[in-house]
Amino acid sequence: MTQILDGKQLSATLKSEIKTAVDTRRAEGKKAPHLAAVLVGNDGASLTYVGSKVRACEAVGFESTLIRLEDTITEEALLEQIAKLNQDPAIDGYIVQLPLPKHIDEERVLLAVDPAKDVDGFHPANFGRMALELPTFIPATPFGIMEMLERYQIETSGKHCVVIGRSHIVGRPISILMSQKGPAGNATVTLTHSRTQNIEELTRQADIVVSALGIPEFLKADMVKAGAVIIDVGITRVTDESHPKGYVIKGDVAYEEVAAKASAITPVPGGVGPMTIAMLLKNTLLACERKA
Ligand code: GUN
Repeated sequence: MTQILDGKQLSATLKSEIKTAVDTRRAEGKKAPHLAAVLVGNDGASLTYVGSKVRACEAVGFESTLIRLEDTITEEALLEQIAKLNQDPAIDGYIVQLPLPKHIDEERVLLAVDPAKDVDGFHPANFGRMALELPTFIPATPFGIMEMLERYQIETSGKHCVVIGRSHIVGRPISILMSQKGPAGNATVTLTHSRTQNIEELTRQADIVVSALGIPEFLKADMVKAGAVIIDVGITRVTDESHPKGYVIKGDVAYEEVAAKASAITPVPGGVGPMTIAMLLKNTLLACERKA
């Protein structure tokens, strides 16, 4: 029987643990964590993600602030907004939703975020600390994958993990984390990307595949070993007029055929996605606790 790694259920457990921590803080007369999200423009997917993040804050008793800015905003004006968030003692942590409009230098913006409030873990200081196994904020998606592997007691030690995709948000950090010592670590990691040759030869050797590529149903059954663990990070909107929203969400994995061969698999939706939000909350709680 293939085990379904249920991120929706696990994230509900994590959120309830976070809510308990918030209730305890309040009972002790301490403030609730406060997350702010900066959203530039009107991208549909970004609006959905940020909306989910704000609702999740409310569900666990956090304060939340959504800052919406026009997509015509100048880089300087955005940087001013960020300076305000850095200085605001009420805000424990904040995120700048990516992608940003093309005229804005993403690197410059991420560098401007106070690392102590960088609950996305995108600042070079935090990313470097992660690579060196120092206390930091781990980016929410790879953090969620690690938490899921640990809580489902998936054996990673000595296993061969093939990561597909080298993004700064998922592929690169998960490849670092799974190769480190500790829970969900000690794996032998191969990081593959668009220039990798004969990728299926590598994925077929994998005990664990983490796919963060963004190509719908890229990973087929003949590309995986029987009994492999499959973590699907893909969330691509595919046009489907028969659906009320006009699109469906597809993962990187051809789910039915790969699930039939795998020992464990994350569904899309309901796998890695909900974990990402739970771990953002966890980082915000951490930011709040560290400030004290
Ligand atoms: N865009 C896609 N994923 C993310 C994320 O985890 N954080 C932010 N800020 N933007 C994103």
